[in-house]
Amino acid sequence: MIDFKKKNHINKQDLVGYKLIGDGKDGEIYQITEEKCVKYFFKEETQQKELEALKVGQISPVFPRLYEYGDNYIVMEYVEGVSLARHLKREKQITRELTAKVVAMLQELQRVGFTRWDTEIRHILIDQDQQLKVIDHKRAFSTNTHIPTKLFKGLKKYDVLDAFLEHVKEMDASSYQDWVNKK
Ligand SMILES: Nc1ncnc2c1ncn2[C@@H]1O[C@H](COP(=O)(O)OP(=O)(O)O)[C@@H](O)[C@H]1O
Ligand SMILES: [Mg+2]
Repeated sequence: MIDFKKKNHINKQDLVGYKLIGDGKDGEIYQITEEKCVKYFFKEETQQKELEALKVGQISPVFPRLYEYGDNYIVMEYVEGVSLARHLKREKQITRELTAKVVAMLQELQRVGFTRWDTEIRHILIDQDQQLKVIDHKRAFSTNTHIPTKLFKGLKKYDVLDAFLEHVKEMDASSYQDWVNKK
């Protein structure tokens, strides 16, 4: 097992033996313990963006805990659960309760200081306690997005956008007003 505290830079070789749990455009994610995973970045510039976002996010429960980092990696909380995308694919509906959690999560993006108040349904994870955690924050400060259009697009794909907005209308009339003409 690697001692991340001693390393400012890791190589792919260091990750041999760990389970690959995700691979995206910007990096690869390996589970290193029951509670932790490491995101190995292809570019240090992306690591910096994501690190900055995760740091400010630590005041909020909707972000994975941040443990360790070096130039090209971040060790963070491993969130065990399914993405909202997978959940919707399976359930084909969105409850009022889940809608409320999504709205609260979006408000957290704003509260911690992100300028992008949006995310994609594949980056929202539903953990074992049915709480939401958002991942992949490289764009947190590089766009100014106050209407969650990426989220809407994902909800629309699974045909739950209208139901979502109906719930929002009942529970948060002000957000509804801001959003409804822009979907
Ligand atoms: N903290 C985490 N806990 C559990 N799974 C994660 C975590 N971070 C990333 N993953 C998994 O890895 C995938 C890719 O991660 P992501 O951060 O989106 O990488 P990229 O920046 O390359 O798009 C995610 O879709 C998810 O399945
Ligand atoms: Mg991603």
